Amino acid sequence: MQHTIALLPGDGIGPEIVQAAVDVLEAVAKKHRHTFAFQSYDIGGTAYDKTGHPLPEETVAGCKAADAVLLGAVGGPKWDTLPGHLRPEAALLGIRAALGLYANLRPAKIYPALKEACPLRTDIAAAGFDILIVRELTGGIYFGERGRGRGPGGEFAWDTEKYSWQEIGRIAEVAFRAAKSRKGKVTSIDKANVLESSRLWREVVHEMAALTPEIECVDMLVDNAAMQLVRNPSQFDVIVTSNMFGDILSDEASQITGSIGMLPSASLGDGTRGLYEPIHGSAPDIAGKGIANPLATILSAAMLLRHSLGLEAEAQTIENAVEAVLAQGVRTGDIAVPGETAVTCAEMTAAVCAAIA
Ligand code: IPM
Ligand code: MG
Repeated sequence: MQHTIALLPGDGIGPEIVQAAVDVLEAVAKKHRHTFAFQSYDIGGTAYDKTGHPLPEETVAGCKAADAVLLGAVGGPKWDTLPGHLRPEAALLGIRAALGLYANLRPAKIYPALKEACPLRTDIAAAGFDILIVRELTGGIYFGERGRGRGPGGEFAWDTEKYSWQEIGRIAEVAFRAAKSRKGKVTSIDKANVLESSRLWREVVHEMAALTPEIECVDMLVDNAAMQLVRNPSQFDVIVTSNMFGDILSDEASQITGSIGMLPSASLGDGTRGLYEPIHGSAPDIAGKGIANPLATILSAAMLLRHSLGLEAEAQTIENAVEAVLAQGVRTGDIAVPGETAVTCAEMTAAVCAAIA
């Protein structure tokens, strides 16, 4: 069967890591006899430089016509002074919204082979963890009203955190569904001791929890959650939280896996079409050097096969290959501990492809 995959390489290390994931998908296609048709589109600063807009209409149309979208990263110092709506990041929010992708799944687990790279105390790393962060992706302060004005204190600026019952209900549903096929626990993270939007968040989550009594549901304030993630990460199974809290906590969760270069993500809506991207950014400092860790993007490709194309065995082929190369000791710079030699992005990719074949 032929599947169409739209590629959005973007900026910085984006093109290198997307190429790595394409190589791995080709290796999977060969092994499992599939055909993937890839089509690349511009997004982010690169798109802005070419067309004057970070999210050209052609890109949105191309993504809508595809079965799934694989994205590298957007942004860089070159575009940091552009007005908000023309910044590369606006394109990322724009494509998430245009495709209706309100649920962002960010799995963070510690690989046995990477325990040395985990910055936590050895007994905490030894206990291990396997967390799925379910981040709301098309609402909250990222999409609320914002503006600037002038007052007695000089210029002011504001952003609004706003959530509706429907937005909270549907993301909670995703979390409870995910918990059913995992350890059966949902931790809902908010700031209900201060924010009204968080108080509504809690009410809705409790209503949803009442419909799924077999799932344990725990509320946690976000400041405590930030602490618990480094104190005792094994207490978490599924975390459900708002757009901004999810952004922040997923970076923290990634670091305890060893490196932000390890975390994939899937952004899903009501249909099967999804957008898959590493949770890290464009890493302008190492762009073009060929040393980026491609594993987060390669693991995102596995999630793409699973969630958008229904190819579970093929997804596992990739995940097993990643686990195998880590067990062999293959390391990019970000996950190498002192004394280990680091391989390039291309060498890591070749090792994964070899493990697949
Ligand atoms: C992420 C990123 C983006 C976000 C940025 C680049 C807009 O940090 O996907 O985590 O905040 O969603
Ligand atoms: Mg982020």
